[in-house]
Amino acid sequence: MANACGFLTSSVPSLRIKVQPSESEGLLRRRAVAVCSSGIEDVGKHVSPSPAQSRKLVSNGCKLVGCGSAVPSLSVSNYDLAKIVDTSDEWISARTGIRNRRILSGNESLRSLAVEAARKALEMADVDADDLDLILMCTSTPDNLFGDAPQVQRDLGCTKTPIACDIRAACSGFMLGLFSASCYVRGGGLHKILVIGADAVSRFTDWTDRGTCVLFGDAAGAVVVQACNAEEDGLLSFDLHSDGEGGRHLGSPIKYTQTNDLSGSNGSVFEFPSRKSSYPFVQMNGQEVFRFAARHVPRSIETALKKASLTASGIDWLLLHQANQRIIDAVATRLKFPPEKVISNLANYGNTSAASIPLALDEAVRSGKVKQGHTIAAAGFGAGLTWASAVIRWG
Ligand code: ACO
Repeated sequence: MANACGFLTSSVPSLRIKVQPSESEGLLRRRAVAVCSSGIEDVGKHVSPSPAQSRKLVSNGCKLVGCGSAVPSLSVSNYDLAKIVDTSDEWISARTGIRNRRILSGNESLRSLAVEAARKALEMADVDADDLDLILMCTSTPDNLFGDAPQVQRDLGCTKTPIACDIRAACSGFMLGLFSASCYVRGGGLHKILVIGADAVSRFTDWTDRGTCVLFGDAAGAVVVQACNAEEDGLLSFDLHSDGEGGRHLGSPIKYTQTNDLSGSNGSVFEFPSRKSSYPFVQMNGQEVFRFAARHVPRSIETALKKASLTASGIDWLLLHQANQRIIDAVATRLKFPPEKVISNLANYGNTSAASIPLALDEAVRSGKVKQGHTIAAAGFGAGLTWASAVIRWG
């Protein structure tokens, strides 16, 4: 992934715009659906606008107009974990800042959390699910291997079927989702986009490994991104990175196991070795990940601030991926953010991967901490390795 922030303000060659002329909200507010040029088309139904029309459809600004979150009902404290692995509340809270986490149980699914968070975000934004142009579900632990977004779309009751797809970038996923949403608005002519960050890392947690099981929790958070004019723009800059080389320090690479059952359902025998595949528990070199985050995240935020022509002292809030309070403190110190400007809810939920930033944002907005017009320097980092920063203005 390249460093990226050059937004297009006219139509993107690979996208075409489908205009539904029945709506009378003005050109900018018309529903516009981006269709991949390589996809199957119904030429008769798609109207390709002239270059001049495209420019009018494409918005220069986009802003966050609503947020929501949801967590599972089961709360697991450090004391609970001390009953199953050799650990203590003292060790976990001192080394990580975490005291509790929520874990999916019973009939709960990642999708049910995502839908609950999305409904709250739509309600705050006063946006009808049917008015969405796109749903981006940022998760690395979906209910369905092939992605959850279309089911979220169905569960939200979107009868006008916007595009819905998943983004997989671990703990940076939500930031990638925000960046993608901004590109779809600025370059693709879309108007209302739901970005969900949701993860259930508990599914891939080894509950006998004290080095990892104390860290993670499950949750979902969502925001509504809406097109606006340039003066109201709320997604001010981005800085995005990935490093596959460092990926060995954190991951869950697929594992194959040989099976003796070589016969197919019709009795025929496979002529190739039969094997089963599964994703193993999360494996992490905690110290390496810690070092990576402490080194790269401050630089990335500084780059995003520079692109937005702002300095840390002019920013209202620092909102980092909630992985470890010591990482949050180290980044805040390096960037000279005083503790009272740092958003943290890690103690209650642990590391919720792609959900952690929208979950913390939602709590900060609903508690009145983050107010309309406040600026936020946000950064996600994690498996991949990936790291991504943004400067955001709320509301
Ligand atoms: N309870 C008690 N002792 C423990 C525990 C535990 N839960 N876990 C490890 N220890 C022990 C170790 O065995 C070791 O013991 P030893 O000295 O006898 O060998 C000792 O504590 C120190 O272990 P370290 O791994 O060196 O502890 P460290 O201070 O590095 O903390 C931690 C570990 C919390 C994992 C830290 O390295 C960390 O937070 N790393 C970053 C993780 C992160 O940010 N991940 C984000 C991305 S997640 C994603 O993308 C999915």
